[in-house]
Amino acid sequence: MSSIPSSFQLEPIEKASVDELRALQLTRMKKSLQHTYDNVAGFRKKCEERQVHPADLKRLEDLKLFPFTTKQDFRTGYPFGMFAVPMDKVVRIHASSGTTGKPAVVGYTANDMDVWANVVARSLRAAGARPGDRVHNAYNYGLFTGGLGSHDGAHKLGCIVIPVSGGQTERQAQLLVDLAPTIIMVTPSYLLNIADEVDRQGIRKEQLSLRIAMVGAEPWTQAMREEINSRLNLTAIDYYGISEVIGPGVASECIETLDGPTFWEDHFYPEIIDPNTGEVLPDGSHGELVVTSLTKEALPIVRYRTRDLTRLLPGTARSMRRLDRLTGRSDDMLIIRGVNMFPSQVEEQILSLPALAGHYQIEVSRRGTLDDLTICVELRPDAGSADPQDVGKSLAHKIKAHIGVSAAVDVRPSGSIPRSAGKAVRIIDHRKL
Ligand code: DLL
Repeated sequence: MSSIPSSFQLEPIEKASVDELRALQLTRMKKSLQHTYDNVAGFRKKCEERQVHPADLKRLEDLKLFPFTTKQDFRTGYPFGMFAVPMDKVVRIHASSGTTGKPAVVGYTANDMDVWANVVARSLRAAGARPGDRVHNAYNYGLFTGGLGSHDGAHKLGCIVIPVSGGQTERQAQLLVDLAPTIIMVTPSYLLNIADEVDRQGIRKEQLSLRIAMVGAEPWTQAMREEINSRLNLTAIDYYGISEVIGPGVASECIETLDGPTFWEDHFYPEIIDPNTGEVLPDGSHGELVVTSLTKEALPIVRYRTRDLTRLLPGTARSMRRLDRLTGRSDDMLIIRGVNMFPSQVEEQILSLPALAGHYQIEVSRRGTLDDLTICVELRPDAGSADPQDVGKSLAHKIKAHIGVSAAVDVRPSGSIPRSAGKAVRIIDHRKL
C-alpha cells in the first residue's frame, strides 16, 4: 500500500484559503443560479413570484433571497421537470428511494458524472484510501445512487472495485476473507449484519484486511461507530450524500481528524436554516441543512431542503466547513407525549448496554389519546446469562433518564429483528398504517 502522505495528493482547492474558496463559490453560484433560472421553469416562476433575479446575488449571503427547492418540486415536475439540459445531454438517471410518494428522478451530464466521481474519489482519499486499494462496495447497485456513485468514485481514484452490491450476506462475509478488500462501502446497519455473519462463520477479525469503512446513507451514532470499529478492526468514516444534490460524496470525513464530514464546498454550498421559519442561522447553530449545487449541469439545485438536522462547524483538516453528525431527518422525528425524539438517541442507549445488539426497531401506536412507544431490541448472541427482563428494565430506565419518555422494551432473541441489506427501517408507526 502507498505510504504517500495524504496532503501530497490533495487537490489545490482542498488547500485553498477560506477567502479563495468563498471567491470561487460566488463565481460558481452566480453562474449556477443563472443556469437554473434560464432552464428550469418551476424555479424561474418561484423567483418571479418573489421578485428576485440571479443578478441580485452580489454576495454569498444574498442566497437567502432565493426560494427553497423541496421534495415536492420533484413530485410536481416528475419525472424530468427539474432537468436544466436537453435530454440528449443526459448520460445517467438515478432516483431516490421514494418511500413516500413518487421518487425524485435525478439526471447527470457527462461533466456531472466527472464531478460526482471526483467528489467520491476525494472522499475516499480523505478517508485514507489510495490507488490500488481493494474496495468491497456493498451499497445497492441500481437506481439508488449509493452503489454506482461509490463505484465510479473508487474507480476514479484507481482502486480495484469489487461490485458486490447489497444482499447475500453469507457470501459477503466469505468475500471479505477470500478477496481481502481493504475498504468496504456500506450502510451502518448492513455493516452490522455483515459483522454478525462474520462471527457466525467463525471468521476471526485478524483474518480480515479491512482498514476503512465508508459508512452512510442513514443516520448512525458514535456508539455505532465504536461497535463497528472494534468488531471489524477498522476505522469507520462518516460518508454523507443525498440523491437530489448528487448522491454520495457531498461531504465526507477526513481520517486525520474523524470529526464529522467535510463539506465539499467547491461543488456544494451549505446553509443551516430554522426548519420552522426558513431563516438562515449562523454557523454552529442546530437546524436543517439546505444545499445549493455550484457546478451541476443536468440538475442544478438551489437551496434544497434536505430535512437533515445538523449544524455547520469550522474546517479542521481542510478549510472547508464540516457537518456535525446528523441527529436525524426531521421526517424521522417522533413526538411522544410532547417529547421530540430521534431513533439515533435510542440507538445510543441500546449500545450502552453490553447485552444488547445494535439491531432495533421503534414501534409507535396510539392507545386512546396517548402515544405508546415500544423499543424492540435483541440480545447479542454472546449475551450469556443476561436476563432479558433485567436488560429491558435497564434500557427503559436509560430511555426515561436520557430522552425523557417512557417506553416499553421488547427484548427478543438474537436474529429476530428484521434485517435490511441497505437502509434499515427503524420506525414502525402503527398510527399511520
Ligand atoms: O443515501 C446517498 C448516499 C449513498 C450517501 C451512500 C452515503 C452513502 P438518498 O437515498 O437520497 O441518498 O438519501 C439521502 O440519507 O438526506 C440523510 O438523511 C441520509 N444520509 C446519507 N448519508 C448519511 C450519513 C443517499 N453519513 C439521505 N449520516 C440523507 C446520516 C445520512 N445520514
